[in-house]
Amino acid sequence: MAISDATIQEIKNRIDIVDVIGDFVSLKKVGSNYRALSPFTNEKTPSFYVSPSKEIFKCFSSGKGGDAITFVMEVEGINYIEALKYLADKYGIEVEEEEMTDEQIQAQNKRDSLFIVLNFAAEYFKETLFNSDEGKSIGLSYFKERGFTEATIKKFDLGYTLDQWDGLLKAATAKGHTEEMLLNAGLILKNDNGKIYDRFRSRVVFPIHNVAGKVIAFGARTLRKDKKEPKYINSPETEVYHKSDILYGIHQARQAIRNQELCYLVEGYTDVISLHQAGVENVVASSGTSLTKEQIQLISRYTKNITVLYDGDAAGIKASFRGIDMILEHDLNVKAVVFPEGEDPDSYSRSMSSDAFQDYLKVNAQDFITFKTNILTDGGKQIDPASKVNVIREVIQSISLIPDGIKRSVYIQSCANQLEIEEQVLLSELNKILIGKQRKDRQAEQRAQEVQDILPEPEAPKQATVQDTTFYVERESLRMLINYGNEGYDEELSIAEFILQEIESINFDNDLIEETIHKAAEIVSSGEQIKADRFIGPQHPRMSQLVIDLLEMKYFVSEGWEERHRISTMHESEDLPLAAFKIVLRLKRKKLEVLIRQNDENLKTSQTPEEQDELLKMKMHLKALFDEVNTELGTVISG
Ligand code: UTP
Ligand code: MN
Repeated sequence: MAISDATIQEIKNRIDIVDVIGDFVSLKKVGSNYRALSPFTNEKTPSFYVSPSKEIFKCFSSGKGGDAITFVMEVEGINYIEALKYLADKYGIEVEEEEMTDEQIQAQNKRDSLFIVLNFAAEYFKETLFNSDEGKSIGLSYFKERGFTEATIKKFDLGYTLDQWDGLLKAATAKGHTEEMLLNAGLILKNDNGKIYDRFRSRVVFPIHNVAGKVIAFGARTLRKDKKEPKYINSPETEVYHKSDILYGIHQARQAIRNQELCYLVEGYTDVISLHQAGVENVVASSGTSLTKEQIQLISRYTKNITVLYDGDAAGIKASFRGIDMILEHDLNVKAVVFPEGEDPDSYSRSMSSDAFQDYLKVNAQDFITFKTNILTDGGKQIDPASKVNVIREVIQSISLIPDGIKRSVYIQSCANQLEIEEQVLLSELNKILIGKQRKDRQAEQRAQEVQDILPEPEAPKQATVQDTTFYVERESLRMLINYGNEGYDEELSIAEFILQEIESINFDNDLIEETIHKAAEIVSSGEQIKADRFIGPQHPRMSQLVIDLLEMKYFVSEGWEERHRISTMHESEDLPLAAFKIVLRLKRKKLEVLIRQNDENLKTSQTPEEQDELLKMKMHLKALFDEVNTELGTVISG
């Protein structure tokens, strides 16, 4: 199914880009635009801009940009149709669907077919759980014994696989799913003899959903006591499942995380599900992997506050200090809750009422200093000087990772109070670490700069031949057009009109640039302004990306910004007409240079004297033009 054009238009008309993006990041008004910390990177200084009048955003630290729909696609990791549905939902617009055309059906790529077969499997496992005798008597009764209600089982799409080698395989192929798709989705396995069979057999099944709620993988738990069999079997990495990028439960939790401004982090599937039943819905699990930076970034789209829930077993907790440090490094706030010996979040939440459990979480959330101190001193039992020194080192080490200076000093104060140590002593320790780090950072930055200096501009062909440098001048003229097109060139013309008029007869080598310039010409000739959003949209991802790449900070910032940030950009903006004039001349000179070369080549291979004569005349003509342009350029450059 596709969404009708009428619906798409209605959605577009209703979208307020500031409102849409404001659901995900906190925007601050600067001049006529808005600014925020990028939701795509872990930046310290905001370089993410939203222009309400131009209806676009650009993130200068990741290079991402586009309109409100693109933003939703990027931030939620969903496709165009899903983003439209999200927005329709947000604005209460009814979605009118229409049959897909043949082309649209063919355009469904491999990813889509993976989603389709994974969804089929999830439906099949659910069906088996609720409607087969084996599913009901073994799977369903297990879940019920664990205390999962039917509502919970449905909310998490839990399922069951029969004690058969090919239950899913048969059902799926009967419905037209191919073995290849099942293999790609990680649902079946092939042995050395080429025999294929189900990966998950005789187990209860926990589907793993992406942020948008599509099934991307499965975890499956055996119900046999047999110790030889692994307790859980999980899907392998596939094109749609990257273990380190996803968190179990994020789809079901994201709204609650946003509302509560807090995310609880647990270990496994059963913890997430039991917490939901205890009324705690803002919870996700890193299931099976130690916490990754991608997972932290995923959480940070929704909140800056994480509370990690630990089983009551100190050895395991010490190993997880690294996770706490990683959260601090990403400038998120972290707390920890420890459960009594032998209990995990799942078991403990089931041992009491939901209110009592929710209270426990609130009362026992410790900041990371208290938490680390308690763990390292075994709950305050080890108070000898040696372990105290160790604790201080450990805690200061963690504090040094916090990027925000104010936050660091708040934690230093708290640490001084808790450990009964002079703040000054802690500060000097902290500074030692920070200075060492700065030195390293500076070296890294320098190296990065050196690499940058020798790198060619992105997208450019590798070797700089005459042909290749053409690319830069072509790109420059488009950059000028997009960023400054609406400014005045002289009393009569805008910069865009001037450039377009001058380059009208020029053929561009780069098809994409040419196409974009044509589009600009169309916009200008219909009397409209050049606005980036006119070039941006899912119909033309390459053009969108090109225009986004070319957009400059200037495009977004109000006057006075440069002084405030003491940034000196090229001084072209001080004299835009001159800059436009120069760019046009450079483009012409480059084009003439190429023509002269081609003409020379033709001369070498020319067969008849008449032909030669023609080409020589042409050479003279081109040379004269070239000299003219060159002289003019020389004057404006030195002048
Ligand atoms: P548990 O061993 O507690 O699993 O691991 P469980 O299903 O709750 O079993 P019982 O009933 O307590 O014995 C907790 C979480 O760790 C992950 C799962 O997500 C599970 O929910 N886990 C555990 C795995 O991914 N693989 C394993 O082999 C074990
Ligand atoms: Mn358990």
